[in-house]
Amino acid sequence: MRKPIIAGNWKMFKTRDEALQFIYAVNDQMPSNEEVESVIFAPFVVLRCLVKRQGENLKIGAQNMHFAEEGAFTGEVAPNMLTSIGVTYVLIGHSERRAMFNETDESCNKKLHSAFKHELKPILCVGESLEQRENGTTEEVIRHQLVEDLKGLSKEQVKELVIAYEPIWAIGTGKTATAQIADETCGYIRHVVGSLYDQETADAIRIQYGGSVKTSNIDELMAQPNIDGALIGGASLKSDDFITLVNAALK
Ligand code: PGA
Repeated sequence: MRKPIIAGNWKMFKTRDEALQFIYAVNDQMPSNEEVESVIFAPFVVLRCLVKRQGENLKIGAQNMHFAEEGAFTGEVAPNMLTSIGVTYVLIGHSERRAMFNETDESCNKKLHSAFKHELKPILCVGESLEQRENGTTEEVIRHQLVEDLKGLSKEQVKELVIAYEPIWAIGTGKTATAQIADETCGYIRHVVGSLYDQETADAIRIQYGGSVKTSNIDELMAQPNIDGALIGGASLKSDDFITLVNAALK
């Protein structure tokens, strides 16, 4: 049995006061971490104030990091800086970073190795564009991302990894992939992990769906056999919705 994992990706939203209001509203409403893993990926500047106030059933993650421990990289944040303030998760390779901030499969791969070295739990995002979906290359694109991004990771590490399947055409557009498309592609990701590692690893890895997940469609998505959770942008900004979304994983 794979434990469900529901994560909110706040992107570049929420000031410190707004972040605090959110955490006070959700802390007592999170189901037990034994049953569902709940994570908020917040902007760097509010990570410390959230970590200080996080209840035992909510974890805090960063939306990105550099792979190096230190260096002349103006504007970047290192993995050991994150762990030094109690951050436990990190999002790697979100499509917005790949499209707008030069994130490549090579840098994702380095970041994954670095995250494991620093005992940060990574969620790796993969997914195809609308054009790729329409010209039938979705599987090829996703396979390529997985082969490059997972290079050199051990079986034990991959079992701990979470992959978020996020079709780019469904992010922030209100267009959710149908539960069937989402499940099929998550199943394909599991199949590729099985072919790169083995069946045991494929059965253990958790795969989320992301892209316009909201309170009205989470139940159907979570009912799919290959979907172990959700990565949620817009709908994770409202505390009431986040509470509903996390609790949907218990059903
Ligand atoms: P969305 O974003 O839920 O607003 O579509 C998902 C994501 O980018 O992780």
